[in-house]
Amino acid sequence: MMPSTLQLLIALLCHVTSPLIFSHAAAEGATELRSAFSVARTSSMEGGPKMVITFDKVYVNIGHDFDPKTGLFRCRVPGAYYFSFTVGKFPRKNLSVMLMKNKNEVQVIVYDEHHGKDRKVQSQSAMLQLEFGDTVWLRLHGTPTRLYSNTGPYTTFNGYLIYPDTYSYLGNSLSDQESADQQSSHASNTKVTAGNKDCAQKEDRMLSDQPTAVMEKEEEEEEENDLRSAFSVARSQSVLGKDQGIFQHKPMTFDTDFVNIGADFNTSAGEFTCRVPGAYYFSFTIGKLPHKTMSVKLMKNHLEVQAMIFDDSSSKRREMQSQSLMLALKKGDTVWLYSHQHDGYGAYSNHGKYITFTGFLVYPELTQHRQQRQKN
Ligand SMILES: *[C@@H]1O[C@H](CO)[C@@H](O)[C@H](O)[C@H]1NC(C)=O
Ligand SMILES: *[C@@H]1O[C@H](CO)[C@@H](O)[C@H](O)[C@H]1NC(C)=O
Repeated sequence: MMPSTLQLLIALLCHVTSPLIFSHAAAEGATELRSAFSVARTSSMEGGPKMVITFDKVYVNIGHDFDPKTGLFRCRVPGAYYFSFTVGKFPRKNLSVMLMKNKNEVQVIVYDEHHGKDRKVQSQSAMLQLEFGDTVWLRLHGTPTRLYSNTGPYTTFNGYLIYPDTYSYLGNSLSDQESADQQSSHASNTKVTAGNKDCAQKEDRMLSDQPTAVMEKEEEEEEENDLRSAFSVARSQSVLGKDQGIFQHKPMTFDTDFVNIGADFNTSAGEFTCRVPGAYYFSFTIGKLPHKTMSVKLMKNHLEVQAMIFDDSSSKRREMQSQSLMLALKKGDTVWLYSHQHDGYGAYSNHGKYITFTGFLVYPELTQHRQQRQKN
């Protein structure tokens, strides 16, 4: 964030008395920390080596971090971002599209059914931790390959900032409501306990690179109160169902984590455990194994909350499927994926990471959070 904006924000923090006006100020101050894009492509595209997929329709481009002409998203605000994309398959062509971070493959969408004359669309999503200048883009891989789209459009690409890294400066939450709520309580505290002099000190502290003892203490408190929680994990090996004497519901485990803010996801156990109560968004993508049925369930504690099924066990093709859901969680609730444990069932993945699982806190529970603040 530019110092001028920070100064403006602090000035507003110090001088504005009405919480209502303040929340407007907070929203304005947060403008620089917003980044979101949503774009579409209205024509098909031929593959080639290292082809970047470009876009000609822009639905959203907050912060102008996405350049539709080059197809590159360039990170301006460091932090954790959620990306999703949908691609269309051209009849009788293979399709391989990769989500790229700089020069590295993150995950892939593949169709290897060039005989198929059907058009199809498929989606993927992941969260990525980005530094300033990092680029994220879609690569249409290999030849001959062709991406399908038309004025429909079938091929879309979205991304938005979920948690900026400058988080600790601006309070503990991202949701506008919550942050306005907190900031106004911050502001009224300042007003009650101190005058403008204190505010000036605070301004100095926030603008200075030298941490003071007070600031360190504040940071510790903020860590305890960290209302961020996000994970995005992938699995690069298939899962094969097997008939077992004792029927066991074991979570699907993961070998890669793109993001694990708050360390609430245990990859080797395959389980997310809720630390901050609130509403969470979850999404998962699973690959289908040739000649197997795919049956994967999103589990909350020991209950199934959403099921994914792909019944076509006669198909020898690899395919993928994505689903998403929001859940209200209490502290200690667990969320995990379960792949049916019987012969004939399975889920496909390889180094292209067909299997991904992402979740993040959308809104922390307000009452619980207020109570915590009052205790402090
Ligand atoms: C499509 O992919 C399959 C499997 O990877 C491969 O055998 C085939 O040659 C490819 N077809 C074309 C037209 O590239
Ligand atoms: C993750 O889960 C594994 C297996 O249940 C367990 O042994 C390990 O202690 C857990 N790790 C953390 C950090 O909780």
